[in-house]
Amino acid sequence: MKTVSDVLTNISYGGDYNPEQWTEDVWLKDAKLMRKAGVNLISVGIFSWAVLEKEEGNYDFSWLDKVMDMLHDHGVGVCLATATASPPAWLSMKYPDSVAVNQYNVPYSFGSRQHYSPNSPEYRSAMVRLVKKLADRYKDHPALKMWHINNEYACHMSECYSDYSLQAFRKWLLNRYEHIDELNERWGTNFWSQRYNSFEEITFSGNSPTLVNPGQELDYKRFMNDSFLELYKLEKDILREVTPNVPIFTNFMFEFKPLDYFQWAEELDVITWDSYPDPREGIPVAHAMQHDIMRSLKKGQPFFLMEQVTNQVNWRDINLPKKPGEMRLWSYAAIAHGGDGIMFFQWRQSRAGAEKFHGAMIPHSSDETSRVYREVKQLGDELKKLDSLVGARVPAKVAIVFDWENWWAVELDGKPHNKLDYLDHVKSYYQVFFANNIAVDFVRAGDDLSAYELVVAPMLYMIKLGDDKNLENYVDTGGTLVVSYFSGIADENDRIHLGHYPAPLRHFLGMYVEEFVPYAEGKTNQIVHNAQHFSCSTWSDIIRLEGAHTLASYKDEWYKDMPAVTSHSFGKGKAIYVGTEPEYDYVNQLITTLAAEKNIEPPAEGPPNVEMVERNSDEANHLIVINHNEDPAVIQLNSNKNYVNLLTGGTIQKEVSVEGTDVLVLRCE
Ligand code: GLA
Repeated sequence: MKTVSDVLTNISYGGDYNPEQWTEDVWLKDAKLMRKAGVNLISVGIFSWAVLEKEEGNYDFSWLDKVMDMLHDHGVGVCLATATASPPAWLSMKYPDSVAVNQYNVPYSFGSRQHYSPNSPEYRSAMVRLVKKLADRYKDHPALKMWHINNEYACHMSECYSDYSLQAFRKWLLNRYEHIDELNERWGTNFWSQRYNSFEEITFSGNSPTLVNPGQELDYKRFMNDSFLELYKLEKDILREVTPNVPIFTNFMFEFKPLDYFQWAEELDVITWDSYPDPREGIPVAHAMQHDIMRSLKKGQPFFLMEQVTNQVNWRDINLPKKPGEMRLWSYAAIAHGGDGIMFFQWRQSRAGAEKFHGAMIPHSSDETSRVYREVKQLGDELKKLDSLVGARVPAKVAIVFDWENWWAVELDGKPHNKLDYLDHVKSYYQVFFANNIAVDFVRAGDDLSAYELVVAPMLYMIKLGDDKNLENYVDTGGTLVVSYFSGIADENDRIHLGHYPAPLRHFLGMYVEEFVPYAEGKTNQIVHNAQHFSCSTWSDIIRLEGAHTLASYKDEWYKDMPAVTSHSFGKGKAIYVGTEPEYDYVNQLITTLAAEKNIEPPAEGPPNVEMVERNSDEANHLIVINHNEDPAVIQLNSNKNYVNLLTGGTIQKEVSVEGTDVLVLRCE
């Protein structure tokens, strides 16, 4: 099996292409323009099912043959999509049960996209037939570089309550628990008289009078995740058999809760994802975090930015364009965090349809002197100089524990605080590393942590079998672990780990939590650390020490002077517990102190809002510098080595200046 960097040895550059929206004369113009813009990879066919199979079993690949040939003749490779993301009207009409049903038992209507039920046998068999046809037809086509399965699974429609889905859910539960008594035990169904005699008695809880059994809710989320993953695997198995050397993927999304991408990553040859930062947010820190998550899904293997927009999307309330230079800057940010491909939605802006005001590489005007096209071409020209980055990795000594099932569980109803936002809380730690230019990987609590000097486990509410031992072993063998409030509370069925919270982590944290104190909205308190005062909000744990010592204590309220942040030496390492939501300055101080103790340093020194990230391979080490400021910045390099500026060709030592809204890609000589 070839890896993606064996197949694509340059930084990939291109976007989604929908030639079926255009006449043939436009195709030729497009192929020439692509070449001119430095495009080397194009995704074709993502929403083409209705034109590939106009009636059931009546396939027409003639137009796609021409497009594939034409792209190949112009030196453009193809990510060929399997076109299964949106079934045609005839399919939904002929097989009404293939359509997904919402939680109130209403089927979705046709006329938009992605309306199919993942558990419909009719959808599945039509899908399998189409994928087989595509694989057989294009298996030897020289343009075929990768397979793009479906599109953004579960986007728009992540829950289906159809009869097919219910039957599949019961089967899924039977498979997981084998006996109904086991399910009753795990779901705790003696509560509120929820006991089941058989799997057949289980129904969906979409229209329930009040809170639903949390074990059931969690399993429903797992089941839907698995339903979509099963679809992906069905397609993947066909493609793998016919084309064993062509890498296969589907595209992931930003902060997407319904799918456990760690689980999915095992089935993908390369991680690809779609990133649409809102220009209103300023520096896209949240997107940097997603880049790092995406890179971490396959343990540091570079990812592809599969979609972004050149200037503006059309699906926000108000769609601000990226300012001049921002598209380029944010593309380099993706590369810095581990991207080997920079792609757009889409190549040519649509004339009709719901996305006609969505930006593209070629705007409606087709004007080659337009700002958009000039920026597209400039980036395309530059990326040709960056071959040495392909396959290079981001070295990280820090990891943040991130877990989709934990995300699901922590945000289910019925908690002491029902406005906790897991991602926001994770970000409150991530942004400190981002601001200090300390590279971060994301891991699961059960992963091998031995490569990291510092691990942060924010709000790790769910501790699964073995996670506690893994974290304990990490600290015992010399690691520094930071755990924050509402961690170590429940098992994988959302049943409490009995004993004092956080029961499974308590002995190596050297403390326990006696009570939770959620704050009313707007309320703050203060914590005092070495006579310095910092604000805190959202939550306070009432902490009792069992060997740990206090780093910071609360200033006010009935728990005044009680510990808020603790530290415990355990084995060769130490475990820190943060029982509240401190302001940024405190988290920054705590984390940078812990990082300094472990000699974790940024790769270079510069002013605020300048990102600096290393990407290294056996052949070459790189430093990528991204100046998010409008003013120039001066960077001090940490080593005495010579660096080559890959974009401009000059040599640099010790100090270098970078213009505002500009980047440097430096290769260490
Ligand atoms: C998603 C989809 C694309 C397109 C873009 C628009 O990422 O995959 O088909 O709809 O959004 O931003």
